[in-house]
Amino acid sequence: MDDTAGKAPWGGRFAGPLDEFVVEFGASLPVDQRMWDADIRGSVAHARMLSACGVISEPDAVAIVAGLSAIREEIEAGEFVFEAADEDIHMAIERALTLRIGEAGKRLHTARSRNDQVALDARMHAKEASLGLIGAVDALRATLLRLADDHLGVVMPGYTHLQKAQPILLSHHLLAYFWMLTRDVSRLRHAHEAADVMPLGSAALAGTTFPIDRQAVADELGFSLISANSLDAVSDRDFLLDLTYACTVAMVHLSRLCEELILWSTDEFGFVQMDDSYSTGSSIMPQKKNPDFAELTRGKTGRVIGDLTSLLVMLKGLPLAYNKDMQEDKEPAFDAIDTLSSCLRAVEGMLSTMTVNSDRMRAGARGGFMAATDLADHLAARGVPFREAHEVVGRLVLRCEHEGRTLQDLTLEELRSASPAFAADALEAVDIDRIVARRVSLGGTGHDAVRTQLVAAKTVLHQDAEWSIAAR
Ligand code: ARG
Repeated sequence: MDDTAGKAPWGGRFAGPLDEFVVEFGASLPVDQRMWDADIRGSVAHARMLSACGVISEPDAVAIVAGLSAIREEIEAGEFVFEAADEDIHMAIERALTLRIGEAGKRLHTARSRNDQVALDARMHAKEASLGLIGAVDALRATLLRLADDHLGVVMPGYTHLQKAQPILLSHHLLAYFWMLTRDVSRLRHAHEAADVMPLGSAALAGTTFPIDRQAVADELGFSLISANSLDAVSDRDFLLDLTYACTVAMVHLSRLCEELILWSTDEFGFVQMDDSYSTGSSIMPQKKNPDFAELTRGKTGRVIGDLTSLLVMLKGLPLAYNKDMQEDKEPAFDAIDTLSSCLRAVEGMLSTMTVNSDRMRAGARGGFMAATDLADHLAARGVPFREAHEVVGRLVLRCEHEGRTLQDLTLEELRSASPAFAADALEAVDIDRIVARRVSLGGTGHDAVRTQLVAAKTVLHQDAEWSIAAR
Protein backbone atom coordinates (compact mmCIF):
# COMPACT_ATOMS: atom_id res chain seq x y z
CA MET A 1 0.00 0.00 0.00
CA ASP A 2 1.19 3.44 -0.93
CA ASP A 3 2.24 5.32 2.25
CA THR A 4 0.76 8.62 0.99
CA ALA A 5 -2.64 7.18 0.08
CA GLY A 6 -5.54 8.87 1.85
CA LYS A 7 -3.27 11.53 3.34
CA ALA A 8 -3.50 15.24 2.71
CA PRO A 9 -1.11 16.38 -0.04
CA TRP A 10 0.81 18.34 2.58
CA GLY A 11 0.92 15.28 4.88
CA GLY A 12 4.70 15.32 5.35
CA ARG A 13 4.76 18.42 7.45
CA PHE A 14 1.93 17.35 9.72
CA ALA A 15 2.00 14.92 12.58
CA GLY A 16 -1.76 14.85 13.13
CA PRO A 17 -4.87 14.70 10.99
CA LEU A 18 -7.29 17.52 10.25
CA ASP A 19 -10.26 17.98 12.57
CA GLU A 20 -13.17 16.05 11.12
CA PHE A 21 -15.50 19.00 10.97
CA VAL A 22 -13.13 21.31 9.13
CA VAL A 23 -12.42 18.65 6.53
CA GLU A 24 -15.91 19.32 5.29
CA PHE A 25 -15.88 22.99 6.20
CA GLY A 26 -12.81 23.60 4.08
CA ALA A 27 -13.86 21.55 1.09
CA SER A 28 -15.06 23.11 -2.15
CA LEU A 29 -15.75 19.91 -4.06
CA PRO A 30 -19.56 20.22 -4.12
CA VAL A 31 -19.15 23.58 -5.86
CA ASP A 32 -16.08 23.10 -8.04
CA GLN A 33 -16.89 19.58 -9.27
CA ARG A 34 -18.39 21.11 -12.34
CA MET A 35 -14.93 22.24 -13.44
CA TRP A 36 -13.82 18.65 -13.93
CA ASP A 37 -13.54 18.95 -17.69
CA ALA A 38 -11.35 22.06 -17.50
CA ASP A 39 -9.27 20.43 -14.78
CA ILE A 40 -8.59 17.34 -16.90
CA ARG A 41 -7.86 19.31 -20.05
CA GLY A 42 -5.54 21.60 -18.13
CA SER A 43 -3.68 18.65 -16.60
CA VAL A 44 -3.32 16.92 -19.96
CA ALA A 45 -1.82 20.07 -21.49
CA HIS A 46 0.46 20.52 -18.47
CA ALA A 47 1.69 16.92 -18.58
CA ARG A 48 2.40 17.04 -22.32
CA MET A 49 4.28 20.30 -21.91
CA LEU A 50 6.31 18.96 -18.97
CA SER A 51 7.41 15.99 -21.03
CA ALA A 52 8.14 18.09 -24.14
CA CYS A 53 10.35 20.27 -21.95
CA GLY A 54 12.08 17.26 -20.45
CA VAL A 55 10.74 17.88 -16.95
CA ILE A 56 8.99 14.49 -16.80
CA SER A 57 9.60 11.45 -18.98
CA GLU A 58 7.53 10.67 -22.02
CA PRO A 59 6.24 7.35 -20.62
CA ASP A 60 5.08 9.24 -17.51
CA ALA A 61 3.26 11.79 -19.65
CA VAL A 62 1.66 9.01 -21.69
CA ALA A 63 0.50 7.27 -18.52
CA ILE A 64 -0.88 10.54 -17.11
CA VAL A 65 -2.79 11.36 -20.29
CA ALA A 66 -4.21 7.83 -20.52
CA GLY A 67 -5.13 7.86 -16.84
CA LEU A 68 -6.86 11.21 -17.15
CA SER A 69 -8.79 10.05 -20.16
CA ALA A 70 -9.99 6.99 -18.24
CA ILE A 71 -11.06 9.29 -15.40
CA ARG A 72 -12.88 11.47 -17.92
CA GLU A 73 -14.82 8.45 -19.12
CA GLU A 74 -15.71 7.51 -15.56
CA ILE A 75 -16.97 11.00 -14.78
CA GLU A 76 -18.95 11.15 -18.02
CA ALA A 77 -20.54 7.80 -17.24
CA GLY A 78 -21.38 9.00 -13.73
CA GLU A 79 -19.20 6.24 -12.29
CA PHE A 80 -16.44 8.32 -10.75
CA VAL A 81 -16.37 7.95 -7.00
CA PHE A 82 -15.56 11.07 -5.03
CA GLU A 83 -14.18 10.46 -1.56
CA ALA A 84 -15.03 12.27 1.63
CA ALA A 85 -11.42 13.36 1.90
CA ASP A 86 -11.40 15.01 -1.56
CA GLU A 87 -11.04 18.68 -0.74
CA ASP A 88 -11.70 19.92 -4.23
CA ILE A 89 -11.92 18.75 -7.82
CA HIS A 90 -8.17 19.17 -8.31
CA MET A 91 -7.33 16.86 -5.41
CA ALA A 92 -10.05 14.39 -6.36
CA ILE A 93 -8.73 13.94 -9.86
CA GLU A 94 -5.10 13.81 -8.81
CA ARG A 95 -5.92 11.23 -6.14
CA ALA A 96 -7.82 9.08 -8.61
CA LEU A 97 -5.02 9.40 -11.14
CA THR A 98 -2.34 8.32 -8.69
CA LEU A 99 -4.47 5.43 -7.52
CA ARG A 100 -4.77 4.36 -11.13
CA ILE A 101 -1.23 4.90 -12.50
CA GLY A 102 0.95 5.13 -9.36
CA GLU A 103 4.27 7.06 -9.43
CA ALA A 104 3.63 8.97 -12.65
CA GLY A 105 0.48 10.48 -11.17
CA LYS A 106 2.53 12.00 -8.39
CA ARG A 107 4.70 13.81 -10.94
CA LEU A 108 1.82 15.68 -12.55
CA HIS A 109 1.92 18.46 -9.99
CA THR A 110 5.53 19.38 -10.85
CA ALA A 111 5.90 23.10 -11.68
CA ARG A 112 2.28 23.71 -10.73
CA SER A 113 0.29 24.73 -7.69
CA ARG A 114 -3.40 24.49 -7.02
CA ASN A 115 -3.29 28.28 -7.01
CA ASP A 116 -2.53 28.53 -10.72
CA GLN A 117 -4.51 25.35 -11.42
CA VAL A 118 -7.73 26.70 -9.94
CA ALA A 119 -7.23 30.00 -11.76
CA LEU A 120 -6.82 28.08 -15.00
CA ASP A 121 -9.90 25.93 -14.44
CA ALA A 122 -12.05 28.89 -13.46
CA ARG A 123 -10.94 30.81 -16.54
CA MET A 124 -11.68 27.90 -18.87
CA HIS A 125 -15.04 27.48 -17.22
CA ALA A 126 -15.81 31.19 -17.44
CA LYS A 127 -14.94 31.25 -21.15
CA GLU A 128 -17.28 28.35 -21.80
CA ALA A 129 -20.03 29.81 -19.65
CA SER A 130 -19.93 33.21 -21.30
CA LEU A 131 -20.29 31.62 -24.73
CA GLY A 132 -23.20 29.54 -23.48
CA LEU A 133 -24.91 32.60 -22.05
CA ILE A 134 -24.37 34.54 -25.26
CA GLY A 135 -26.14 31.71 -27.11
CA ALA A 136 -29.10 31.93 -24.72
CA VAL A 137 -29.28 35.72 -25.01
CA ASP A 138 -29.22 35.33 -28.78
CA ALA A 139 -32.20 32.97 -28.66
CA LEU A 140 -34.12 35.57 -26.69
CA ARG A 141 -33.03 38.35 -29.03
CA ALA A 142 -34.23 36.29 -32.00
CA THR A 143 -37.62 35.82 -30.33
CA LEU A 144 -37.92 39.56 -29.68
CA LEU A 145 -37.13 40.23 -33.34
CA ARG A 146 -39.71 37.71 -34.49
CA LEU A 147 -42.36 39.26 -32.24
CA ALA A 148 -41.45 42.76 -33.43
CA ASP A 149 -41.72 41.56 -37.02
CA ASP A 150 -45.01 39.77 -36.48
CA HIS A 151 -46.63 42.75 -34.73
CA LEU A 152 -45.47 45.59 -36.91
CA GLY A 153 -48.22 48.20 -36.85
CA VAL A 154 -49.63 47.33 -33.42
CA VAL A 155 -50.00 50.60 -31.53
CA MET A 156 -49.79 50.76 -27.75
CA PRO A 157 -49.42 53.44 -25.11
CA GLY A 158 -45.89 54.52 -24.30
CA TYR A 159 -45.31 55.57 -20.69
CA THR A 160 -43.18 57.83 -18.61
CA HIS A 161 -43.65 57.69 -14.82
CA LEU A 162 -45.96 54.78 -15.72
CA GLN A 163 -48.41 57.45 -16.89
CA LYS A 164 -49.57 57.40 -20.48
CA ALA A 165 -47.23 59.59 -22.49
CA GLN A 166 -47.30 59.07 -26.27
CA PRO A 167 -48.48 56.22 -28.45
CA ILE A 168 -45.74 53.95 -29.76
CA LEU A 169 -45.46 50.75 -31.73
CA LEU A 170 -45.32 47.50 -29.78
CA SER A 171 -42.42 46.54 -32.06
CA HIS A 172 -40.55 49.62 -30.91
CA HIS A 173 -41.09 48.65 -27.28
CA LEU A 174 -39.89 45.08 -27.93
CA LEU A 175 -36.87 46.31 -29.83
CA ALA A 176 -35.85 48.45 -26.86
CA TYR A 177 -35.23 45.14 -25.06
CA PHE A 178 -33.37 43.82 -28.08
CA TRP A 179 -30.82 46.62 -27.73
CA MET A 180 -30.55 46.15 -23.98
CA LEU A 181 -29.75 42.49 -24.56
CA THR A 182 -27.31 43.43 -27.30
CA ARG A 183 -25.33 45.38 -24.74
CA ASP A 184 -25.48 42.32 -22.50
CA VAL A 185 -23.87 40.32 -25.26
CA SER A 186 -21.03 42.80 -25.51
CA ARG A 187 -20.54 42.65 -21.75
CA LEU A 188 -20.48 38.84 -21.92
CA ARG A 189 -17.98 39.01 -24.75
CA HIS A 190 -15.83 41.27 -22.66
CA ALA A 191 -16.07 38.72 -19.84
CA HIS A 192 -14.95 36.05 -22.30
CA GLU A 193 -11.97 38.16 -23.30
CA ALA A 194 -11.11 38.89 -19.66
CA ALA A 195 -11.03 35.15 -18.93
CA ASP A 196 -8.96 34.39 -22.00
CA VAL A 197 -5.58 34.74 -20.27
CA MET A 198 -3.61 31.62 -19.33
CA PRO A 199 -2.31 31.63 -15.71
CA LEU A 200 -0.71 28.16 -15.47
CA GLY A 201 3.01 28.26 -14.81
CA SER A 202 2.61 30.95 -12.17
CA ALA A 203 2.83 28.09 -9.68
CA ALA A 204 2.07 29.07 -6.08
CA LEU A 205 2.86 32.78 -6.52
CA ALA A 206 6.35 33.34 -7.85
CA GLY A 207 6.72 31.20 -10.95
CA THR A 208 8.76 28.01 -11.10
CA THR A 209 12.36 26.89 -11.33
CA PHE A 210 11.50 24.33 -14.02
CA PRO A 211 12.11 25.13 -17.70
CA ILE A 212 8.44 25.18 -18.69
CA ASP A 213 6.79 26.36 -21.89
CA ARG A 214 3.72 28.38 -20.98
CA GLN A 215 2.98 29.26 -24.59
CA ALA A 216 2.59 25.58 -25.49
CA VAL A 217 -0.01 25.17 -22.74
CA ALA A 218 -1.84 28.32 -23.83
CA ASP A 219 -1.87 27.10 -27.43
CA GLU A 220 -3.12 23.64 -26.56
CA LEU A 221 -5.90 25.07 -24.39
CA GLY A 222 -6.87 27.79 -26.87
CA PHE A 223 -5.92 30.83 -24.79
CA SER A 224 -5.15 34.10 -26.58
CA LEU A 225 -2.82 35.50 -23.94
CA ILE A 226 -0.50 34.42 -21.13
CA SER A 227 -0.61 36.20 -17.78
CA ALA A 228 2.33 38.57 -17.40
CA ASN A 229 2.77 38.46 -13.62
CA SER A 230 2.64 35.32 -11.53
CA LEU A 231 1.37 37.15 -8.41
CA ASP A 232 -1.42 38.80 -10.34
CA ALA A 233 -2.26 35.57 -12.14
CA VAL A 234 -3.06 33.67 -8.94
CA SER A 235 -4.78 36.59 -7.20
CA ASP A 236 -6.87 37.91 -10.07
CA ARG A 237 -10.58 37.17 -10.09
CA ASP A 238 -11.52 40.19 -12.19
CA PHE A 239 -12.69 37.84 -14.92
CA LEU A 240 -15.29 36.41 -12.53
CA LEU A 241 -16.30 39.92 -11.49
CA ASP A 242 -16.72 40.85 -15.15
CA LEU A 243 -18.77 37.78 -15.88
CA THR A 244 -20.91 38.17 -12.78
CA TYR A 245 -21.45 41.85 -13.55
CA ALA A 246 -22.51 40.98 -17.08
CA CYS A 247 -24.95 38.44 -15.60
CA THR A 248 -26.23 41.00 -13.11
CA VAL A 249 -26.99 43.65 -15.72
CA ALA A 250 -28.67 41.07 -17.94
CA MET A 251 -30.79 39.96 -14.96
CA VAL A 252 -31.77 43.56 -14.30
CA HIS A 253 -32.90 43.78 -17.93
CA LEU A 254 -34.90 40.57 -17.67
CA SER A 255 -36.39 41.80 -14.43
CA ARG A 256 -37.62 45.00 -16.05
CA LEU A 257 -39.07 43.04 -18.95
CA CYS A 258 -40.77 40.65 -16.53
CA GLU A 259 -42.18 43.54 -14.53
CA GLU A 260 -43.82 44.75 -17.73
CA LEU A 261 -45.13 41.31 -18.60
CA ILE A 262 -46.62 41.08 -15.11
CA LEU A 263 -48.30 44.47 -15.48
CA TRP A 264 -49.41 43.72 -19.02
CA SER A 265 -51.10 40.50 -17.96
CA THR A 266 -53.23 42.19 -15.30
CA ASP A 267 -56.93 42.69 -15.91
CA GLU A 268 -56.26 46.43 -15.75
CA PHE A 269 -53.83 46.36 -18.68
CA GLY A 270 -54.85 43.20 -20.49
CA PHE A 271 -52.19 43.76 -23.15
CA VAL A 272 -50.93 40.18 -23.14
CA GLN A 273 -52.01 36.80 -21.92
CA MET A 274 -49.43 34.31 -20.79
CA ASP A 275 -49.81 30.84 -22.18
CA ASP A 276 -51.06 28.14 -19.81
CA SER A 277 -47.66 26.50 -20.10
CA TYR A 278 -46.10 29.56 -18.45
CA SER A 279 -48.79 30.32 -15.85
CA THR A 280 -49.84 28.89 -12.55
CA GLY A 281 -53.14 28.87 -10.72
CA SER A 282 -54.13 29.37 -7.13
CA SER A 283 -54.89 26.62 -4.67
CA ILE A 284 -57.84 28.62 -3.32
CA MET A 285 -58.98 31.16 -5.94
CA PRO A 286 -60.28 29.23 -8.94
CA GLN A 287 -60.10 32.21 -11.31
CA LYS A 288 -56.40 32.95 -10.85
CA LYS A 289 -53.81 32.77 -13.58
CA ASN A 290 -50.51 34.01 -12.27
CA PRO A 291 -47.37 35.00 -14.19
CA ASP A 292 -45.22 33.13 -11.65
CA PHE A 293 -42.16 32.73 -13.82
CA ALA A 294 -41.94 36.39 -14.66
CA GLU A 295 -42.19 37.12 -10.94
CA LEU A 296 -39.60 34.48 -10.15
CA THR A 297 -37.19 35.97 -12.67
CA ARG A 298 -37.72 39.40 -11.13
CA GLY A 299 -37.12 37.85 -7.71
CA LYS A 300 -33.99 35.96 -8.73
CA THR A 301 -32.45 39.20 -9.91
CA GLY A 302 -31.91 40.07 -6.26
CA ARG A 303 -29.83 36.94 -5.81
CA VAL A 304 -27.58 37.73 -8.71
CA ILE A 305 -27.05 41.28 -7.47
CA GLY A 306 -26.09 39.59 -4.19
CA ASP A 307 -23.65 37.30 -6.03
CA LEU A 308 -21.83 40.29 -7.49
CA THR A 309 -21.75 41.98 -4.10
CA SER A 310 -20.39 38.82 -2.45
CA LEU A 311 -17.56 38.60 -4.93
CA LEU A 312 -16.62 42.24 -4.60
CA VAL A 313 -16.66 42.13 -0.82
CA MET A 314 -14.75 38.84 -0.70
CA LEU A 315 -11.92 40.36 -2.75
CA LYS A 316 -11.69 43.84 -1.33
CA GLY A 317 -9.44 43.18 1.64
CA LEU A 318 -7.21 40.45 0.27
CA PRO A 319 -3.47 40.86 0.25
CA LEU A 320 -1.56 39.22 -2.62
CA ALA A 321 -1.41 36.44 -3.55
CA TYR A 322 -3.78 33.47 -3.06
CA ASN A 323 -5.90 33.39 0.10
CA LYS A 324 -8.39 30.69 0.98
CA ASP A 325 -11.11 33.36 0.97
CA MET A 326 -10.89 33.07 -2.80
CA GLN A 327 -12.42 29.63 -2.68
CA GLU A 328 -15.65 31.55 -2.05
CA ASP A 329 -15.45 32.97 -5.60
CA LYS A 330 -17.04 30.09 -7.44
CA GLU A 331 -20.35 29.73 -5.64
CA PRO A 332 -21.59 33.25 -6.44
CA ALA A 333 -20.13 33.25 -9.95
CA PHE A 334 -21.68 29.88 -10.77
CA ASP A 335 -24.96 30.91 -9.21
CA ALA A 336 -25.05 34.04 -11.36
CA ILE A 337 -24.34 31.97 -14.48
CA ASP A 338 -26.95 29.33 -13.64
CA THR A 339 -29.59 31.82 -12.64
CA LEU A 340 -29.20 33.95 -15.75
CA SER A 341 -29.13 30.88 -17.93
CA SER A 342 -32.40 29.51 -16.57
CA CYS A 343 -34.11 32.91 -16.51
CA LEU A 344 -33.18 33.54 -20.15
CA ARG A 345 -34.78 30.27 -21.04
CA ALA A 346 -37.93 30.96 -19.05
CA VAL A 347 -38.36 34.48 -20.44
CA GLU A 348 -37.83 33.27 -23.99
CA GLY A 349 -40.52 30.67 -23.43
CA MET A 350 -42.93 33.20 -21.94
CA LEU A 351 -42.49 35.60 -24.82
CA SER A 352 -42.70 33.07 -27.59
CA THR A 353 -45.93 31.55 -26.25
CA MET A 354 -47.84 34.59 -24.96
CA THR A 355 -50.79 36.09 -26.82
CA VAL A 356 -50.72 39.77 -27.69
CA ASN A 357 -54.04 41.56 -27.33
CA SER A 358 -53.56 44.28 -29.91
CA ASP A 359 -57.11 45.63 -29.51
CA ARG A 360 -56.51 46.32 -25.85
CA MET A 361 -53.21 47.98 -26.64
CA ARG A 362 -54.82 50.15 -29.26
CA ALA A 363 -57.71 51.08 -26.98
CA GLY A 364 -55.15 51.97 -24.32
CA ALA A 365 -53.39 54.22 -26.79
CA ARG A 366 -56.56 56.28 -27.27
CA GLY A 367 -56.87 57.11 -23.59
CA GLY A 368 -54.69 59.30 -21.46
CA PHE A 369 -54.77 62.29 -23.80
CA MET A 370 -51.67 61.03 -25.53
CA ALA A 371 -52.32 63.27 -28.53
CA ALA A 372 -51.61 66.35 -26.44
CA THR A 373 -47.97 66.78 -27.47
CA ASP A 374 -48.90 66.51 -31.13
CA LEU A 375 -51.70 69.08 -30.77
CA ALA A 376 -49.24 71.46 -29.16
CA ASP A 377 -46.70 70.71 -31.91
CA HIS A 378 -49.42 71.51 -34.46
CA LEU A 379 -49.88 74.96 -32.96
CA ALA A 380 -46.15 75.52 -32.59
CA ALA A 381 -45.63 74.65 -36.24
CA ARG A 382 -48.09 77.42 -37.01
CA GLY A 383 -46.16 80.06 -35.17
CA VAL A 384 -47.67 79.81 -31.69
CA PRO A 385 -44.79 79.83 -29.18
CA PHE A 386 -44.52 76.29 -27.79
CA ARG A 387 -45.07 77.34 -24.18
CA GLU A 388 -48.31 79.04 -25.21
CA ALA A 389 -49.38 76.06 -27.30
CA HIS A 390 -48.68 73.83 -24.28
CA GLU A 391 -50.99 76.03 -22.18
CA VAL A 392 -53.81 75.95 -24.76
CA VAL A 393 -53.69 72.17 -25.08
CA GLY A 394 -53.42 71.77 -21.33
CA ARG A 395 -56.70 73.63 -20.96
CA LEU A 396 -58.28 71.41 -23.63
CA VAL A 397 -57.15 68.32 -21.71
CA LEU A 398 -58.66 69.71 -18.51
CA ARG A 399 -61.93 70.38 -20.31
CA CYS A 400 -62.05 66.87 -21.80
CA GLU A 401 -61.28 65.42 -18.40
CA HIS A 402 -64.23 67.28 -16.86
CA GLU A 403 -66.51 66.21 -19.70
CA GLY A 404 -65.32 62.62 -19.80
CA ARG A 405 -64.15 62.92 -23.41
CA THR A 406 -60.90 62.25 -25.26
CA LEU A 407 -58.92 64.67 -27.42
CA GLN A 408 -60.08 62.66 -30.42
CA ASP A 409 -63.71 63.53 -29.51
CA LEU A 410 -63.11 67.28 -29.98
CA THR A 411 -64.46 68.93 -33.12
CA LEU A 412 -62.48 71.39 -35.21
CA GLU A 413 -64.76 74.18 -33.99
CA GLU A 414 -64.03 73.33 -30.39
CA LEU A 415 -60.32 73.35 -31.12
CA ARG A 416 -60.57 76.69 -32.91
CA SER A 417 -62.45 78.25 -30.05
CA ALA A 418 -59.50 77.32 -27.86
CA SER A 419 -57.05 78.81 -30.37
CA PRO A 420 -57.71 80.27 -33.81
CA ALA A 421 -54.29 78.97 -34.84
CA PHE A 422 -55.65 75.40 -35.19
CA ALA A 423 -55.65 74.68 -38.95
CA ALA A 424 -58.08 72.57 -40.98
CA ASP A 425 -55.86 69.50 -40.60
CA ALA A 426 -55.71 69.85 -36.81
CA LEU A 427 -57.81 66.70 -36.37
CA GLU A 428 -55.08 64.72 -38.08
CA ALA A 429 -52.82 65.76 -35.22
CA VAL A 430 -54.87 63.64 -32.81
CA ASP A 431 -55.09 60.57 -34.98
CA ILE A 432 -53.25 57.82 -33.11
CA ASP A 433 -51.78 56.14 -36.19
CA ARG A 434 -50.57 59.41 -37.60
CA ILE A 435 -49.07 60.40 -34.26
CA VAL A 436 -46.98 57.26 -34.36
CA ALA A 437 -46.18 57.48 -38.07
CA ARG A 438 -44.95 61.06 -37.76
CA ARG A 439 -42.12 60.05 -35.43
CA VAL A 440 -39.75 59.46 -38.30
CA SER A 441 -36.56 60.58 -36.56
CA LEU A 442 -33.84 57.94 -36.65
CA GLY A 443 -34.52 55.61 -33.72
CA GLY A 444 -38.08 56.90 -33.32
CA THR A 445 -41.30 54.90 -33.18
CA GLY A 446 -42.58 55.81 -36.68
CA HIS A 447 -43.36 52.76 -38.80
CA ASP A 448 -40.58 53.48 -41.28
CA ALA A 449 -38.07 54.24 -38.55
CA VAL A 450 -38.99 50.97 -36.81
CA ARG A 451 -38.64 49.04 -40.05
CA THR A 452 -35.16 50.53 -40.47
CA GLN A 453 -34.43 49.61 -36.85
CA LEU A 454 -35.58 46.04 -37.43
CA VAL A 455 -33.23 45.67 -40.35
CA ALA A 456 -30.36 47.05 -38.27
CA ALA A 457 -31.23 44.68 -35.41
CA LYS A 458 -31.25 41.67 -37.71
CA THR A 459 -27.84 42.63 -39.06
CA VAL A 460 -26.45 42.96 -35.55
CA LEU A 461 -27.84 39.57 -34.51
CA HIS A 462 -26.37 38.00 -37.60
CA GLN A 463 -22.94 39.54 -37.04
CA ASP A 464 -23.00 38.52 -33.39
CA ALA A 465 -23.81 34.94 -34.38
CA GLU A 466 -20.73 34.94 -36.59
CA TRP A 467 -18.59 36.17 -33.71
CA SER A 468 -19.89 33.32 -31.55
CA ILE A 469 -19.09 30.72 -34.20
CA ALA A 470 -15.56 32.09 -34.55
CA ALA A 471 -15.08 32.11 -30.76
CA ARG A 472 -15.97 28.43 -30.40
N1 ARG B 1 -10.24 24.75 -3.74
C1 ARG B 1 -9.34 25.84 -3.82
C2 ARG B 1 -10.06 27.08 -4.34
O1 ARG B 1 -11.10 26.93 -4.87
C3 ARG B 1 -8.21 25.54 -4.75
C4 ARG B 1 -6.95 26.31 -4.47
C5 ARG B 1 -6.37 25.88 -3.18
N2 ARG B 1 -5.09 26.46 -2.94
C6 ARG B 1 -4.58 26.50 -1.73
N3 ARG B 1 -3.43 27.05 -1.59
N4 ARG B 1 -5.24 26.05 -0.69
O2 ARG B 1 -9.63 28.20 -4.19
